[in-house]
Amino acid sequence: MENERLFRHGVVYQIYPRSFCDSNGDGIGDLPGIISKLDYLQNLGIKIIWLSPIYKSPLMDMGYDVADYYSIHPDYGTMEDFDRLLEEAKKRGIRIVMDLVVNHTSDEHEWFIRSKDKTSPYHDYYIWRKGRGEDGMEPPNNWTSQFTGPAWSYDPEVGEWYLHLFSKKQPDLNWHNPKVLEEVEAIIDFYMKKGVYGFRCDVINQIYKESLEDGIGNAASGRGSEHYLMKDGNHRILRQIHDDIFAKYPDSVMIGETFNVDLENGRRFLENQELDMFFHFDLMELDKAMFGAFHKKVNPEVWKKTAFKWQEGVSWNANYLENHDQLRSINRFGDPKRYWKESGKMLAMFNLCLRGTPFVYEGQEIGMLNLPMRDPAKSKDCVSWMVADILKKYPFPKWFKRRILNRIDRDHERAPMQWNDGVSAGFSTSKDTWIEVNENKSYINVEAEKADPDSILNFYRRLIAIHNESEALCTGEFIPLETKGSVIAWKRKSGDEELIVLLNFGKGKPKLPAFAKGKETLLSNYEGESKNGKLRPFEACLLKA
Ligand code: NOJ
Repeated sequence: MENERLFRHGVVYQIYPRSFCDSNGDGIGDLPGIISKLDYLQNLGIKIIWLSPIYKSPLMDMGYDVADYYSIHPDYGTMEDFDRLLEEAKKRGIRIVMDLVVNHTSDEHEWFIRSKDKTSPYHDYYIWRKGRGEDGMEPPNNWTSQFTGPAWSYDPEVGEWYLHLFSKKQPDLNWHNPKVLEEVEAIIDFYMKKGVYGFRCDVINQIYKESLEDGIGNAASGRGSEHYLMKDGNHRILRQIHDDIFAKYPDSVMIGETFNVDLENGRRFLENQELDMFFHFDLMELDKAMFGAFHKKVNPEVWKKTAFKWQEGVSWNANYLENHDQLRSINRFGDPKRYWKESGKMLAMFNLCLRGTPFVYEGQEIGMLNLPMRDPAKSKDCVSWMVADILKKYPFPKWFKRRILNRIDRDHERAPMQWNDGVSAGFSTSKDTWIEVNENKSYINVEAEKADPDSILNFYRRLIAIHNESEALCTGEFIPLETKGSVIAWKRKSGDEELIVLLNFGKGKPKLPAFAKGKETLLSNYEGESKNGKLRPFEACLLKA
């Protein structure tokens, strides 16, 4: 039964609604635009779509700051459009997962506005405290926000401070208050009744603040996390939501975004039926350097060890290489210049052949790349603005600051989807898109790649088709194979079906391992077997064992 659940057999495609397809020419993607591309997704073999937030929001953090969970942001359409999306997706065998952002709301949410009245029951929906110091003008503790700066803001109207682990426009909800759980369960139930398949739960492993004591650790970001990351209360709440709501909807999925998760807590999330899967960040951390700017080259052996740790450590993984918070994976882990196609396909095979549910982020399937270096002032990303502010205090040369800002800017992965080589890459009829279209649309676009049998897109299509049909790839065991250097390999096995995944995670030409010789190839990113017993740069093969 457990093995039959849809998420164990389907690939998830993440849509960033603002950037996917604009139906009304305002330069912003919308729900009717998504509906118009459902055939494309069906054809790609997608079974589940995860939508980044579409709720009413001031969009300070692009929707991860919700002002009303029950209405759709007018930029994206109406609730009727959303219902139509559910219906049209269902007709094509596709289910919709929504984003549930409930660590915090927007400061423009009615709950927060009402909470400013100390006598209102809403006051206790958030974490309001008196300040320290004689005049109460110092924050209640030394925690820092994960978006830089203090985690508390003072409201003179209230005469108190409120906690925000992200920006000051994202006040944290108080999960000690049972009313908050009640409200969130009502939201979940509202969408489940509509036929939503489930939720991707934003920063869900930090909702329960166990204490508000001072934190230890680096002030730069997230100081205090030992008091709120994966506390017992957090586990309890998730299990409660499962019992109260999801037990009623066995055909559903709960996916957690769980920053800094460890194996012990990861197992607990799954074994205690709190979540069906969760995103760990360990692979995404491997190339990080100063200020979260990504610029170290990843060592393939460390990559392998990290990925295998999770494959062997928990019963199910949410596998991903890209999303709306991560730079494009070919820029980070492949070679966008010399081996764009090869490395794009190799990364696809890595992601889709691990055990767990594969997530593909819009544009990843055509090998979209980061934007070229640009003036940081153009950025639409609040994290960029905040880091730019901090950088002002440092005596770094201008070029260096610019480089850092360009590396952390989330606009790279949020730039419009490239459908064709026309105006705004076919994303919009307007030339004025909310983020500019990447100049490389001339060769990286759906239309061109559809026509090229050797394209990254057609590789994804074939790989997803194989994935969906193969019990070994969907639910089969993960068996690591011994390899050295840049070679990474593993087996997937279910009953008599046994497959070998063989990857060269680099530009070199390492030796073809003996276990791979003479095996039948199901899919590869090169033509024919290599002649000299060596793997080619970024070679990736799926073999019959
Ligand atoms: C994680 C989301 O993915 C990210 O986009 C957002 O900025 C933070 N959580 C805060 O909600």
